[in-house]
Amino acid sequence: MDYPTLMLYLENQLDWLKKKGCGHLNIEKLPQVELKRVIQGLKTANLCAARPSEQVSQAAGVQIKELRMQLASSSVSGPPEFETAIPQFLDTESHSSEWPLTDSASEVSADSLADLEKKYCTCQRCPLGDTRKKFVFGSGNSKARLLFIGEGPGADEDAQGLPFVGRAGRLLTSMIEVIGIDRPDVYVTNIVKCRPPGNRNPTPEEIACCQPILDQQVSLINPDLIVTLGNVPLKTLIPGSPGITKVRGQRMSYQRWPLIPTFHPAYLLRNRNALDQAWEDFRSFGAQLHSGSEALLS
Ligand code: URA
Repeated sequence: MDYPTLMLYLENQLDWLKKKGCGHLNIEKLPQVELKRVIQGLKTANLCAARPSEQVSQAAGVQIKELRMQLASSSVSGPPEFETAIPQFLDTESHSSEWPLTDSASEVSADSLADLEKKYCTCQRCPLGDTRKKFVFGSGNSKARLLFIGEGPGADEDAQGLPFVGRAGRLLTSMIEVIGIDRPDVYVTNIVKCRPPGNRNPTPEEIACCQPILDQQVSLINPDLIVTLGNVPLKTLIPGSPGITKVRGQRMSYQRWPLIPTFHPAYLLRNRNALDQAWEDFRSFGAQLHSGSEALLS
């Protein structure tokens, strides 16, 4: 079940809103008792083994969605109307001309993500090519404003050929949804595209073999913001960076793209104490994205 994690987030946010004096949350319309009712409803619906879209009653689903939008809008300094889709972000065309293209951008050799995937999906440039079940290129909106980069596929991802579909992936999806964005609107990929056996960290050689693929993905997607998840993508894209606990939430850049590192969702599943900080990061970059790209570019 991954709804408890979502519930944890909702509870977390309510606490935060209470501390902040509730901002734009309409308490009369959505009192704490309502949140408790939703959470209780989800608990009693016994969603442990369930896929939410199949099992949540329509009423509970709507409440959660409304709650999500209310909570998300409370972190934006505007009125509480909230668009859930990313297209309201400024068109990247408007800022891309302000940044000089880097060498890496000009090295893009595939016209589209689909071409790029086709080119590399049979890759045997490192030993992971022998042990993988499926090449996990990435998934999501090819013009996403928000690009998440994890470490490498786990067993579930290796089996399905898709990134972040296991337990950590479901937490990531919940976190994205809680900031008012649908997962299909973002793009999600990893530093390495094939599963390191036993879920070990990828070696520097494996990372070096895969980095040209990632660089081309980043150039083709041209996101407003890259969010790295955990230490491996942080230290790959920002060599020499201090560890994630020291720099999480800080605005950095990778080539010409703004980058914010945060915790890996698998770490959050094991260290619930870090949830508050991760939530702070998500809320902060979610608000920046929703209020337009300028905040990210400054
Ligand atoms: N962990 C990652 O870093 N990536 C995935 O795709 C899944 C789990």
